[in-house]
Amino acid sequence: MSDNPEGAVTPDTIQRLQAEVPAAFAMLAGMQLGLFSELAGGPRSVAELAATLGVAEDRLARLLYALVAVGLLETRETGFANGPEAASFLVKGRPDYVGGVHELLNQLWHADMLTAQSVRSGRPAALHDFAAASDADMAAMLRGMHGTAIASGRELLRRFNFSRCRSVVDIGGGSGGLVATLCDARPGLKGILFDLPRTAALAADILAATPGGDRVTIETGDILRAPPGGTHDAVVLRALVQVLGQADAARAIANAAKALRPGGTLYIMGGGILDDSRVSPRSAVFLNVTFMNLYEAGAAYTEAQHREWLLAAGCSDMQRVTLSTGSGIIAATRQS
Ligand SMILES: C[S@@+](CC[C@H](N)C(=O)[O-])C[C@H]1O[C@@H](n2cnc3c(N)ncnc32)[C@H](O)[C@@H]1O
Repeated sequence: MSDNPEGAVTPDTIQRLQAEVPAAFAMLAGMQLGLFSELAGGPRSVAELAATLGVAEDRLARLLYALVAVGLLETRETGFANGPEAASFLVKGRPDYVGGVHELLNQLWHADMLTAQSVRSGRPAALHDFAAASDADMAAMLRGMHGTAIASGRELLRRFNFSRCRSVVDIGGGSGGLVATLCDARPGLKGILFDLPRTAALAADILAATPGGDRVTIETGDILRAPPGGTHDAVVLRALVQVLGQADAARAIANAAKALRPGGTLYIMGGGILDDSRVSPRSAVFLNVTFMNLYEAGAAYTEAQHREWLLAAGCSDMQRVTLSTGSGIIAATRQS
């Protein structure tokens, strides 16, 4: 028998959305405190953890129970332990570690709190200007994106054939995690990280500590002004098109295509690739809301918009893949 036999409207969506937000903030706090890394060696009591972290037991215990409730931690007789997902992805030093994303989430979620203000004022209430951001903010953003940049490199290798690729440029490559990962997997591959001078300077240390990073050359430049030097087998634009306005996005793609040899492949990747309906994938829809708080003109763009820009840049044979996270990859071939 139905719980709701008369088909009355219930506030399920409203209640579910309210409940999800604090759970995500508990995960964020766990990452920020390094809790999951502290539990790498096995279960620990609240008292032990509190002593290691130098914090009070009472508040820490509440957070630990919340993390059990969301499924990231488990209770054991001797205390709290990482659940399988936390053990794989949130312990610093593990190959699949993504816990550094808290630095990025901190920036994005602060911005999300200002959506109504951005709509009211018609301006990004948490403006992120790549040229004007402080070094500390930029470095936090690069560290925050590093784990997903590495994961994106692996995803590219899983889904596309790089066996005959000799050189690849990652334009707006940020930390260089993606291109380093490609180089690490393909010994004959020459990798270039192309980014604005200040970002490139901040990326150098992260790159040096990343497997494959020693094989990546850094080239500084502005993709809106000129393409990277030389011609290459592949060019990647990850999470770059989405930080630009429409005219600049078209210009960046056109300049990126100029860095390809005929027959080379241009990969556009990121969370900001929308279906033409504009209501899916959900992550792109919500990132598009976040972007209005961060950028004057950056936005998630539809597949049709990407297709138009790629065609204008002399690229065809477009192929789009949507990953389980909602992030997308659009690959296209440069015509002769
Ligand atoms: C959101 S971040 C993405 C970083 C990296 N691709 C990743 O996925 O981790 C955007 C990057 O684009 C770079 N960028 C922004 N405008 C640029 C421009 N005009 N030319 C080159 N790089 C640019 C920024 O410095 C930053 O590294």
